[in-house]
Amino acid sequence: MDLKRAVAKEAAKLIKDGSVVGLGSGSTAALFIEELAKRMENEDIAIFGVPTSYEAKLLASHYGIPIVSIEDYDVDIAVDGADEVRKKDLALIKGGGGCHTWEKIVDYNAKEFVVIVDESKVKDSLSFPVPVEVIPHSYRVVMKRLKELGGESVIRLGERKRGPVITDNGNFILDVNIKVENAEELEEKINNIPGVVENGIFSRVDKVLVGTKKGVKALK
Ligand code: 5RP
Repeated sequence: MDLKRAVAKEAAKLIKDGSVVGLGSGSTAALFIEELAKRMENEDIAIFGVPTSYEAKLLASHYGIPIVSIEDYDVDIAVDGADEVRKKDLALIKGGGGCHTWEKIVDYNAKEFVVIVDESKVKDSLSFPVPVEVIPHSYRVVMKRLKELGGESVIRLGERKRGPVITDNGNFILDVNIKVENAEELEEKINNIPGVVENGIFSRVDKVLVGTKKGVKALK
């Protein structure tokens, strides 16, 4: 079985009847949503989904998963993908799909936050550019401040390269080449820059499930 599918299926087994589940974004999380929907149908269990993007919301609705809002409900468990996972401390980079702001709101506020990846994402050090969502008006000054922190930024462009990608919140994304050593410290420093809405360094996760050729393994 495809490694992403295998890890998504394993994560779906963690979900208990009656849970409020944070639904991640991206291709691996999409497989989780699909596997969760299968369990709901085959085992007749009730699940309520809190989406981390419009992409996740539309997909969950397509599969018939009832959607509730984090404005009204606490999340029992959130399952999400990642772009990179650092082996030694499980620091993550997320936001390759541009959804990291909602993702962090849902994932960090869940009672349990589980990340699902295939083995190609697990690295000794982080090198994926850090996505930083910014208020459009602030992009130039934020880029200057990021440079002071040692980061070179580019504005993320849409597929046709004619204009910036616009997030679910109506903002721009900067992709920042920056060395991540102390993940928690850098996550906080970037978020302290005026104009930054949220960055894609996730220094807190409860469990990472990794799809490997030898089966699904848990990192804690
Ligand atoms: C979106 C994300 C995704 O979880 C991340 O990009 C991984 O996606 P995929 O599973 O498609 O590789 O953070 O903002």
